[in-house]
Parts: sequence; structure tokens; C-alpha cells
Amino acid sequence: MDFFLVLSLLVFAGFLFGLRRGLPYPPGPKGYPIIGNMNMMDQLTHRGLARLAKKYGGLLHLKMGGLHVFAVSTPDMAREVLQAQDAVFANRPANVAIAYLTYGQADMVFANYGSFWRQMRKICVMKLFSRKRAQSWSSVRDEVDLTVRTVAQNLGSPVNICELVLSLTKNMTYRAAFGSFSREDQDDFVKIIQEFSKLFVAFNIADFFPWLGWIQAGEFNRRLVKARSSLDGFIDKIIEEHMQKRKASGDEAADTDMVDELLAFYGEVDASKAAFDDSQSSIELTRDNIKAIIMDVMLGGTETVAAAIEWVMAELMKSPEDMKKVQQELADVVGLCRFVKESDIEKLTYLKCTVKETLRLHPPIPLLLHETAKDTVVAGYRLPAKSCVIINVWAIGRDPSGWVDPEVFKPSRFLTNDSAPDFKGSDFEFIPFGSGRRSCPAMQLGLYALEMALAHLLHCFNWELPDRMKSSELDMSDVFGLNAPRAIQLVAVPTYRLSCPFLVE
Ligand code: HEM
Repeated sequence: MDFFLVLSLLVFAGFLFGLRRGLPYPPGPKGYPIIGNMNMMDQLTHRGLARLAKKYGGLLHLKMGGLHVFAVSTPDMAREVLQAQDAVFANRPANVAIAYLTYGQADMVFANYGSFWRQMRKICVMKLFSRKRAQSWSSVRDEVDLTVRTVAQNLGSPVNICELVLSLTKNMTYRAAFGSFSREDQDDFVKIIQEFSKLFVAFNIADFFPWLGWIQAGEFNRRLVKARSSLDGFIDKIIEEHMQKRKASGDEAADTDMVDELLAFYGEVDASKAAFDDSQSSIELTRDNIKAIIMDVMLGGTETVAAAIEWVMAELMKSPEDMKKVQQELADVVGLCRFVKESDIEKLTYLKCTVKETLRLHPPIPLLLHETAKDTVVAGYRLPAKSCVIINVWAIGRDPSGWVDPEVFKPSRFLTNDSAPDFKGSDFEFIPFGSGRRSCPAMQLGLYALEMALAHLLHCFNWELPDRMKSSELDMSDVFGLNAPRAIQLVAVPTYRLSCPFLVE
């Protein structure tokens, strides 16, 4: 009996396997032999893939050399991938640069789904992003105050909002991560991080044809080695300083930053990833893990929040009616004779709707990169293991099946509390923070920084475009990279708006 049961299971499994292999790939542009669709490399952007999706549908297939690439561009397909089969799609594709720069995916952002990633995420959420980690949140408040002061010193003159907010978010993450800071070090660090961002998405032939890697190897590898050794030098110095501080204070320092928190898990023995399992109660991090997590936080926290603040300011300057509504709300809730307090934020409904509408139209991470852990089937199509799956959050936020007038900036669409989609991850037409296992673990902290900065900048100051530029003339194009920032940096002239004298509390 057992024999027949086993036999029929084998036959059934074989049938399924055969069936699955026989299934077609999703539709997509026809490729050339060997190179596949590599001639369309320049279309792997949020806009390029959205255009292709209009022709081939919400799940499309491209072959880049030896690599299968699938682009997901509609809410329904995103639900399939990020909810129905979340575990199958929870790995990250690692190209040569990512593998090298993250010390062999020793971080959290690029680690594959599994017990190592789970432990890393647990530590980061508990020790860095949670509400209980007061220092991360006070870093936001301190740096927002400093930014408001900077603006107050430049009343009546053009202020480059892009530079202003990038400096705000960089200082904020730097302060939360390293405690104290020196301006010189920060400039070095930002250059390193920017080079990392470029290298992560740089074209490298070895990613598509490993056997052709030698063609680019020399120049590309030199850049990789240089970037990683700069980061090593920088973070090693910081780790040493923190270890000295720990020794001096007997591990009991009250004022801890992110490096201190991570050092509490530091093992002198080189603990490999293989040593991690879910049941392990004591986690050991290597120096490489600590460096890679610090890099994640700097990369994840700086440009995302800065780009979002700049886009909200730009959309409001483009739409004076909405600017008026946001500022009137601030006047009603806060009043014009004091500064915004943390407790005011929850009452700023229109500001929150404006933030949502901006994240819909300009998600700071427009494309999510995932990888299939095994062969699978979606909507009747075959997706092999180790395929790169790109979820086009930008296209999904503008999909006509989920949104009325999708291209129009209309914060009021979020005023209808009961029916408006939320970005917590279960409404698949609106996923600026992702959804499921790999969604952003710092959503609360990111939103806090975003709302605090905007509430202060819009409450304390009125903003005009420079040189009598009309709001209709404001250029709203973006550029493609890991993030999708504005192509032309926003510049605006502030004037003081409050009736009380300028005193930052
Ligand atoms: C407006 C602000 C932010 C937005 C819109 C945002 C968005 C996202 C998105 C879309 C993902 C990827 C989801 C996926 O692949 O499915 C992500 C992941 C991540 N974010 Fe954020 N993020 C923001 C702020 C932050 C901040 C402030 C930090 C840290 C200080 C941060 C740290 C991370 C990390 C570490 C991951 C990787 C999670 C993983 O792979 O398990 N993010 N974020």
C-alpha cells in the first residue's frame, strides 16, 4: 500500500514538474539569441518598465543574457508576489558589486531570506528603529530644529531645498548611528555612500555572462576595492572609538548610539552566517556584519527621506491651493504664535494626506528588487528559481485600475478615511514602503522624520519660487537610480510666517 502511495506521489510530482516546465514565460519583447533583451538595458527604469507593461501586461518577462528578469507593474500581480507567495519572492538578487560591497550579503538589506536575515532584522528593529529606542527619535527632533535655524538665517534668499534636506537626513542618521559627529568625517562618509549607490546599479557584464567577467574586471574591480576599503577605514575608526568607550565605562554607558547597540552582539570569534539559527538566543555579529548594517542604515535612511521631503515641497509649490490648505491647517492646529510640537502631528490630517499623495506619485524607492528562491508559477506563467523580480512601485501607484485620475496630484483623495488605501502594506495599489517580509522596517521612523521636517518648514516659513518663477513653470521630472530624486533641485525663498519671535524650543 505504502509502495503504491509513494509511487502515485512520485508520478503526480513528476506530472506537476513536467506541467510547470511546460508552462510559458510571461509575455515580453522578443529577444536575440544569447544576449536576449540586453539591447533594452536602458529600459530597466521605473518609466521604461511602465511603458513596457502597457504593451505586455502586469507581469512581463525579459531575458538579460543568462538572467531571467520579471517586472511586476499592477496591484494584482504585486499581491501575488508579495502576499500570496511572499516567502518564494523574499530573496534579494546580488550582483557582483552588491556581493562584494556588502561583505558577501553580510548585511540586512541584501541578505537572502532566512534565519540570518531574521536575526539581523530583529536586532535592527529592536535596537534601532523601534519607538523605544529614544535616541533615534531625538536625533530627528534635534536635526529638524537645526534645519529650521539654518533656514531662519537665510530669510529672503534662495535656499536649495535639496541640499538643505539631504544635510538634515544625513546628520539625523549620522547622529543616530554614531552619536557625536564631525563635519569633516561626514563629508567623506557621504562620498563613500554615494559611490556605493552608483556601484550597486552600475552595468557589469559579469552579472549577465559570468564567463565574460574578465572584459571589465580590471577597472570595475579596482573601483569596488577602493570603495570598500574607504568604508572599512572609516567605520573601523568609529568601531575602535566605541570599543574604547565601552571598556572605559564598563559596558554600562547610559548614552548609547547604534554602534554601541550593535557592539553588544559583537563576537571576537568570526561568527559565520551559518552559525545563525532561529532558536539561538545569543546572537554574535562579526565586524563585517556591523559595518554592513551601518551601511544599510546610511543608505536606507538618508536619500529616501530627503527625496520625499523635497518632492512634497515641490508638489505644494506647484499647487498653491494645497499649500494654502496645509498652512491653514497648521495655523488652526498649532496657531501662529508657537512652534510645532510632536503632539500636534497626529492632528495634521491634510499634511498627512499630502505626504501620502506625494509617496504615491514619487515613491523614494521606485523599483523593489527581489529574487525567486525556487521555481514557481504566477498567473499561469513559469518563473524559474534565481530570477530577478522587479516590483515597479512607481507604476503601481499610477495604475488606472487602482486610482481615479492617477497622474493628478490630489491629496484630498486620501481624506475619505474608510475607503482610501493606506501604505501599511495590505493595499497593493499603494506600497511605497513595500509589503510583506522585506518591507521597510523603519517606516515609522522615516514617516516621523518626514512629517516633523515638513510641519516645521511649512509652519515657520512661507515659500516662494525664485526670480518670479510661476508655479506652473516648475519642472517635475525625475532621474533614475536606486532612488528617483528630482532631476532639477528645488530652490525656494523663505519668509518668516509666525507672530512670535524666532526662538527654537
Ligand atoms: C520615506 C522614507 C522611506 C521609504 C519610502 C522607504 C521605503 C523602503 C522600501 C520600499 C523598502 C524595500 C521593500 C522591498 O524590497 O520589498 C525598504 C527597505 C528597507 N528600508 Fe526603508 N524606507 C524609508 C526610510 C527608511 C529609513 C529611515 C531607514 C533606516 C534608518 C530604512 C531602512 C530600510 C532597510 C534596512 C530596508 C531593508 C529591509 C529588508 O530587506 O529586510 N528605510 N524601505
